[in-house]
Amino acid sequence: MTSTTPDTASPTATAAGHGTGVVFDDMHRWYGPVHALDGLSIDIAPGELIALLGPSGCGKTTALRALGGLDEVDQGRILVGGKDITHVPANKRNMGIVFQAYSLFPNMTARDNVAYGLKLRGMDKARRNRKAEETLELVGLAVQANRFPHQMSGGQQQRVALARALAIEPSVLLLDEPLSALDAKVRRQLREEIRRIQIMVGITTLFVTHDQEEALAMGDRVGVMSAGRLEQIAPPAELYDRPKTRFVAEFVGLTNRIPARTDGSDVAVLGQRIPILPGTTDRGDVQALVRPENLRVSLAEDGTGRVLAVSFLGSLCRAQVALPDETIVVAQMSASESGGLYPGAAVNVAVAPAPVFVVGS
Ligand SMILES: Nc1ncnc2c1ncn2[C@@H]1O[C@H](COP(=O)(O)OP(=O)(O)OP(=O)(O)O)[C@@H](O)[C@H]1O
Ligand SMILES: [Mg+2]
Repeated sequence: MTSTTPDTASPTATAAGHGTGVVFDDMHRWYGPVHALDGLSIDIAPGELIALLGPSGCGKTTALRALGGLDEVDQGRILVGGKDITHVPANKRNMGIVFQAYSLFPNMTARDNVAYGLKLRGMDKARRNRKAEETLELVGLAVQANRFPHQMSGGQQQRVALARALAIEPSVLLLDEPLSALDAKVRRQLREEIRRIQIMVGITTLFVTHDQEEALAMGDRVGVMSAGRLEQIAPPAELYDRPKTRFVAEFVGLTNRIPARTDGSDVAVLGQRIPILPGTTDRGDVQALVRPENLRVSLAEDGTGRVLAVSFLGSLCRAQVALPDETIVVAQMSASESGGLYPGAAVNVAVAPAPVFVVGS
């Protein structure tokens, strides 16, 4: 069944759903000759977490700052809860924002950092301290309330920054690479925690990152941007399995390029015919973009492929294999399936029949 829903429309059933909807309507932003936002439209459902993913300079922060009121758009509109807020100043927008760099006030305790926004809103001291402590508890830092930023780890500081953003009960949460200064393990833990809290609070969230694993792990939907434009927005699995453009196929996930031939209906790759994803009009000699996990490698004495290297990644294993035409591919399998593969081994490589994106060679 084909859907008539435009690509940018939000699905009806997402997270908690009691947040506020956000609409980016054809936003444009120029910085001199740079077209930082080039007709960006996204419809974010109440309570949804949209991860905005793309390479450096593609306009992610520009979009986030526009929503936060920290920068203007030159054309287009921003709606929050159905209201046009395009020209509403930042301090009237009720947004909670967390940036990459630790932006806590160094001379204030965690509690005072979190209470700061409430103080600005005129809340009395007893109430704002209570609210700050509740919010610190939400991010798992109740016992650290009296610590100063320099007495906390990077991960803890970012939790305080998250608590500070949430304490004002914002209508939208804006997170601009909040994890990128942290080491890999803390980063993974904290992203799961942010997601858990976001779902629990039910707050509509725009999460900007250039880390695809992070985007796929966190987003209800992931929007991939390139040069100020939205290439595709879709739930993570759909984005990964059914990329709509060459850019998305190559940017999201590891991708092999394997010489192939097509007449337009399907494509012959490594002696096998597999379906083509829509999005290309190339014919004849092409390259098929094949995910590592869709390559099957098996030991065979008369195999024409040669294993170059094998690397173990815990439960998974990746093998680099040279094909007879010298194309080097990466295959990924479970560690148990990889038994017996070793550098120099002769192997056969087959392709799983998952549809692939095809590009001109
Ligand atoms: N204040 C500014 N003045 C001039 N150019 C700007 C300004 N802010 C952003 N740009 C330009 O606009 C484009 C988009 O920048 P933006 O910061 O939105 O990218 P990004 O996707 O967030 O990148 P990164 O992943 O590196 O943070 C870039 O070419 C950038 O140089
Ligand atoms: Mg940025």
